[in-house]
Amino acid sequence: MDGILIVDFGGQYCHLIGRRIRQLGVYSEIIPYDLAGEQTVSSKRKLKVKGTILSGGPSRVYDDGAPKSSVDVLALGMPIMGLCYGHQLIAFLSGGRVGVGQKKEYGTTRATITKPIGVLRGMRKHEKVWMSHGDVVLEIPQEYEVLAYTENCPVAAFKHRDKPIYGLQWHPEVIHTERGMETLRNFVFYVCKCKANYRPTDFLTNASRRIRQIVGCKKAIIALSGGIDSSTAAVLAAKAIGANLTAVFVDHGLMRAGEPESIPTTLQELKVKLIVMDAKKRFLKRLRGISDPEQKRRIVGKEFIKVFEGVAEDIGAEYLIQGTIYPDRIESGARKHSEKIKTHHNVGGLPTKVKFKAILEPLSDLYKDEVRKVADRLGIPKEVIQRQPFPGPGLSVRVMGSVTQEKIDVVRKADEIVTGEIEKSGLRGKLWQYFAVLTDTKSTGIKGDSRAYGYTVAIRAVESLEAMTAKYTNMPYRILERISTRITNEIPQVTRVVYDVTNKPPATIEWE
Ligand code: XMP
Repeated sequence: MDGILIVDFGGQYCHLIGRRIRQLGVYSEIIPYDLAGEQTVSSKRKLKVKGTILSGGPSRVYDDGAPKSSVDVLALGMPIMGLCYGHQLIAFLSGGRVGVGQKKEYGTTRATITKPIGVLRGMRKHEKVWMSHGDVVLEIPQEYEVLAYTENCPVAAFKHRDKPIYGLQWHPEVIHTERGMETLRNFVFYVCKCKANYRPTDFLTNASRRIRQIVGCKKAIIALSGGIDSSTAAVLAAKAIGANLTAVFVDHGLMRAGEPESIPTTLQELKVKLIVMDAKKRFLKRLRGISDPEQKRRIVGKEFIKVFEGVAEDIGAEYLIQGTIYPDRIESGARKHSEKIKTHHNVGGLPTKVKFKAILEPLSDLYKDEVRKVADRLGIPKEVIQRQPFPGPGLSVRVMGSVTQEKIDVVRKADEIVTGEIEKSGLRGKLWQYFAVLTDTKSTGIKGDSRAYGYTVAIRAVESLEAMTAKYTNMPYRILERISTRITNEIPQVTRVVYDVTNKPPATIEWE
């Protein structure tokens, strides 16, 4: 397979680059900057590496200890494209001058393309590009030519005069760069001459064989969340080893309406042997009085593991299967240094004290959209494939502040109304996520002829491609009104409904 390597300097958008390249039908692999990964990865995967992309990152190239690649990428002789930090690094390593820009740039900017060649082939004079940086390349040596500039960036894009080496200060991988995909396509096909010969479903036969070979006739276990990743891994493993796989569904009482009933049924229909653990009481007990979101996340994660470990011991499972997907994989190197925004609890990344002979992660090379294709091939129903993303800590992070059974019930009912009305309206296909949040603000209202002092529910509905950025949706007032009327009529404890009109960034999608 032809492939592109992405050297990771800890940027928030590194996996977006990887995913975009694969969407073009070309395999991509991310390697931490501090591993001399080129040979290792290429031989391991029998990849024909045709080009390298240097990612963005939070560091400054001129600081002591700033990450530099452990291989001299400029001497590799293959096409290179640096993005943001990668762009500054190429300039710095080549003897250019990098410094603090007059202004930090975050968001969409207009770039003036002075030379539409190479990766910028076919670009117009002015292009909308997405920037997120403080430093800029101020000067670039003679052997390079400037291809574009912006108001704050004298060298916003450059090319080596004789070699296929490019730098872009902006992020072509982010959807807000209008012709970003075209830039990546230019790099992959026109500069690197890759063939589009990668199909995610090709891996199915090998993955199945591998699970069968390793587990054989022993027992394996998987934790099931009901989301697409763990469901796909479970069905794939069940097809390989049949009843030697046991899936465990922990009902922590923090699921959306209907989920604890429908998830087990669906999986059983797909011939996955399943154990359902009713752990509602113990989760609620642990969460009592806790209002810090990070602490809630940690408690739910820990309790989940305890319940799961109990079952693993009971059934004598020797192997653990996980639905870890590519972006969840924890590598050494730069990922460790990228900013942590939230502790994501995810059954895919389940650490456990039980000693397993091996941990198998059959989906660990795939992105979410690729898992969807595999799931479809495995016959997993559309409702599971299209299920909205849902945080592992469930409704506990959709109740602001301390969690009680009453609040969970209120937010679950409100969520059911939001979901039902949006799905009835036909808006579903346009939205990434839509849900209710129970805020910790109470307010005065009138119910019947009496004063009421009740909860405030917030509605969140966002459009997004991969949850890295998101836009609140311009929801028609008639839908909002119907939702608001139903929530206040059908849930006695709620006196007020508000709509969240904040994008990500600066907000995150979930409130906690
Ligand atoms: P934020 O709130 O960080 O969320 O903008 C981005 C996406 O991730 C989902 N999310 C989670 N998914 N475990 C998960 O598997 C978690 O702990 C978790 N928290 C948030 C969120 O719903 C959104 O789609």
